[in-house]
This record gives sequence, structure tokens and C-alpha cells, in this order.
Amino acid sequence: MKDFRIIMAGCGDIAYRWLDHITKRDDCEIIAIAEKNPARAENYKQRYNLTAPVYSSVEEALAKHQGNVLIDLTYVTVHHDIVTMALKAGYDVLGEKPMAFTVDQVNDMLKAVDETGKRYFVMQNRRYIEQVKKIRELVLSGIMGDPAYICSDIFVNADMASIRNQFKYPQLQDNNIHSFDLARFLVGGKPTSVHYHSFNPKGSLYTGDGAGDAVFEFDNGCIYSFRGYNGTEGNYTSWDNVWRVNCERGSVVWDGFGDAKYEYCDHNGDIFKGIPFKGGIIEKPATVRDQHDGALEDMFDALKTGRTPLLDCKDNVNSIAMVLASVKSIEENRKVNIKVSDTYPYLVID
Ligand SMILES: NC(=O)c1ccc[n+]([C@@H]2O[C@H](COP(=O)([O-])OP(=O)(O)OC[C@H]3O[C@@H](n4cnc5c(N)ncnc54)[C@H](O)[C@@H]3O)[C@@H](O)[C@H]2O)c1
Repeated sequence: MKDFRIIMAGCGDIAYRWLDHITKRDDCEIIAIAEKNPARAENYKQRYNLTAPVYSSVEEALAKHQGNVLIDLTYVTVHHDIVTMALKAGYDVLGEKPMAFTVDQVNDMLKAVDETGKRYFVMQNRRYIEQVKKIRELVLSGIMGDPAYICSDIFVNADMASIRNQFKYPQLQDNNIHSFDLARFLVGGKPTSVHYHSFNPKGSLYTGDGAGDAVFEFDNGCIYSFRGYNGTEGNYTSWDNVWRVNCERGSVVWDGFGDAKYEYCDHNGDIFKGIPFKGGIIEKPATVRDQHDGALEDMFDALKTGRTPLLDCKDNVNSIAMVLASVKSIEENRKVNIKVSDTYPYLVID
């Protein structure tokens, strides 16, 4: 019997990134599939030679099979119901971002983790980009002083196929968590507040707001400035964002596509005394590894060893907090505060 007997929920666009990894492992076996749309499940069964039966609901798959891991590849509006049901049935859960749609859902999910003793990890694949790891190491090494002000831009064009694009704040409620999570990962901070301005630019194909600008405060004193638009026409940025990390005595810039570059001095103002910046390049590796591969390796290893992976829900709550606090900020048109703790209620936004 394999170590990981997996029920897979959701066979949408992202599922291939998971199956590419899982079907190559000899410790994993897909024992059942839950998908509301049978044609989508059939497509994946054929593509990956899967023999697992298909059910139209997670309840049914859980009732008919005895596995130990559920992978939740559905969308954010249903993650709460699926994740809590699986945890209570004795499964560890590996799921796609974003964790949940409301603060109550987040608190209920973390409560289910604590009550069942099961594990729940949330996919934030951008943390596994080689250059991201190196930029983070450099920033946190202290050689440039403390991180002070981090900025990201994401100007892309998402197709409108998924329900995810019908949300009131489609960019914020689905994709922005990648940017938010990476910002706090790069500077080693946790969010304490946000002021978010949301809008739908002229020409946007979205019904809801396709764009937004935000300012977050982190607990280490670093400020994060975010800009993004999912309906950009032309001159796209990388989906991994364009980054600038300003530290006390230096900065790193990365366009998300190529090499990153850093410059720093030993004392502020050295440049005005004719002392040139030190610095260097963080090269893009010759072979870029799939981000999901790195993340899934970390998740399965954490399940085997019991260690905490980068993607544990108790850390990820800080990233979903940035999304949900942004929604409150928009709706109340003010700066809102974020408080995360280890016990219930795990997340409070006021
Ligand atoms: N990590 C990444 O880089 C990345 C990239 C794209 C999408 N995602 C995330 O992955 C998730 C899925 O995205 P997608 O593009 O595959 O979406 P999608 O809309 O293509 O697919 C979701 C699938 O879930 C199924 N589903 C919905 N509710 C269900 C239920 N109760 N039971 C069983 N099946 C159900 C739908 O029928 C659909 O086939 C989203 O949360 C999204 O944010 C992550």
C-alpha cells in the first residue's frame, strides 16, 4: 500500500500542475476523484492514465473510500466546506490558494486543524522560485540593513473562463494572495494593517474590480506597496510580479523574468562622498524548476517527517488575512488592522 492514498477534489485548469508531480511519485496513489463536471474528470483520467472512480461530490468519495490525504483543487468559495469535511474524516489536506473567502471560514478551518490534529497546507508556489529564495536570504542577511519598503507590480491579463473571474474583486479575491504572500516572505514580516483602493479601469472586461492599489504595514516596520491589474492590454509583467525591496542601506530589483540586481553601501550617503555602491547579480538559473514541484516536495516531506513546511495553514493565515483585510478596507473605505494568533479566534480584522 502506498504512503499517500489521495482523494482529488476538482479537475480544473490547475490540476495538471499537481498531477504532473504526484503521478511521478512512487509513494502516491489517486484512489478517488470528486468533480462536479464529469467531462473534466474524464479528461484528466485519460491524460494521466488514472483508474480512480469519479464522484460528483467530496462527501460521496469520502464515504466510499479510505484514504489519508485529500488534495483540494477547487476554488476559494468551496475550500472551507471541503477542507473541514476532509479534516474531520481524518485526512490531511493539501490545497490550492486562497485558503478561504471569509474570516469566519478561516477561523473555522484552523479550529478543525487543531481539533482533529490533522495537517493542512496551502499552495504558495512562488516561494519555491530559486531567485526568490536567494533574494530573501540576501534581504534577511542584514548586509543591506533592515528591510524598509517593498513594492510589487503585477499587470497581466487573465482569461475569463473560471468562476474566479466573476467575483466582486476578482483580482484581489483570487490571485493577489501570491503577491501578498511573497512580499511578506521576502522581508520576513507579518501584516498588521492595510489600506486598499479597488477599481475597475476603463476597458476592463471584468464586471467586478480588476485592479487595485494597496499599502500594508508589517510587524517588522517594513511597508509594502502593491499595484495590480488583471485586465492589462500589452506590456505584461511576469505573473511572479516586478519587485523592488528597499532596505536601510541598499535595494534589490527583480523584473520576475530575468536576473535580479542588488546595490548597497556601508553607510547611508556613501555615494555622495564618492564611495561607489557594492552589489551584484542574482542570476536566473539555466533550468527553471516548476514551482509546484518544489512546493509539493516540501508538503509531502512534511507529512512524512512531521516537520512544519513553508506552507502550513498556521503561517498562511497571515497571507489570507491580507486579502480579507483588503476587502474590509475597500468596503469601509479606511485603513483596517490585522491580528493573528495561535488560538481561536486565529484571525481578527478590525
Ligand atoms: N497556485 C497557482 O499558481 C494557481 C494557478 C491557478 C489557479 N490556482 C488556484 O487553484 C484553484 C482552482 O483553480 P482552477 O483554475 O483550476 O479553477 P477551475 O474553475 O478551472 O476548476 C475548479 C474545478 O473545481 C470543480 N469544483 C467546484 N466545486 C466543487 C465541489 N464542491 N466538488 C468537486 N468539484 C468542484 C469545478 O467543477 C472545476 O472543474 C483556485 O483556488 C485557484 O486560485 C492556483
